[in-house]
Amino acid sequence: MSICSAAVLISGSGTNLQAFIDETASGKIDLELSVVLSNRPDAAGLERARKADISIECLRHQDYPERAQFDAALVETLDKYAPDLVILAGFMRVLTATFVDHFRGRILNIHPSLLPKFPGLDTHRRALDAGEKWHGSTVHFVTGELDGGPALIQGRVPVRPGDSMAELAARVLAVEHKIYPQAVRLFAAGRIQYRDGSAWLDGERLNEPLQYSNTIRG
Ligand code: GAR
Repeated sequence: MSICSAAVLISGSGTNLQAFIDETASGKIDLELSVVLSNRPDAAGLERARKADISIECLRHQDYPERAQFDAALVETLDKYAPDLVILAGFMRVLTATFVDHFRGRILNIHPSLLPKFPGLDTHRRALDAGEKWHGSTVHFVTGELDGGPALIQGRVPVRPGDSMAELAARVLAVEHKIYPQAVRLFAAGRIQYRDGSAWLDGERLNEPLQYSNTIRG
């Protein structure tokens, strides 16, 4: 089987991107990072891509009158790299059906909450306000429903008494750097698939997301 090529889409600091760069470099994940695309030219993650010698594309969403045109440009740009997988890693744009349909079953996102809890923005503040005892992050396939596609892996972290938003966010980010490479490793190995609106692992429908532990093999 040929190596899985991935496009990583970012808008910000790119620490999840860095996790992929590190795991790819150390051979822990069989992935070719073909391109890093940002909608913000000042995204710090672009520097990480530059250092790792990965192709960079930058498309400013403000340069397009409508979301549809921006998404069409995204598709055209990404198609040049023919990615097997599109990895959304802190890409803070809602994608239209055009984009989702084009790459259907090949787009992963990481969302900083234990979905279906807290879809959308501001998840850490909302988890604190709700008095949650546990918070975390979810890797899921992207469908037309915002943060609603089938979940693959979740990483749970405790919410500690007196936690600030920054403390909680840092704890969640640390688990993201484990679960996202793990999900991509399974995808790249052909073990995880999207079919009939569900996620499948090793040919079995995944009714519940995997829970992060060091023992998931892949
Ligand atoms: C991550 O926490 C990710 O879950 C979140 O943005 C952060 C990006 O961090 N994504 C979303 O909120 C998507 N709606 P990073 O740039 O350091 O990888």
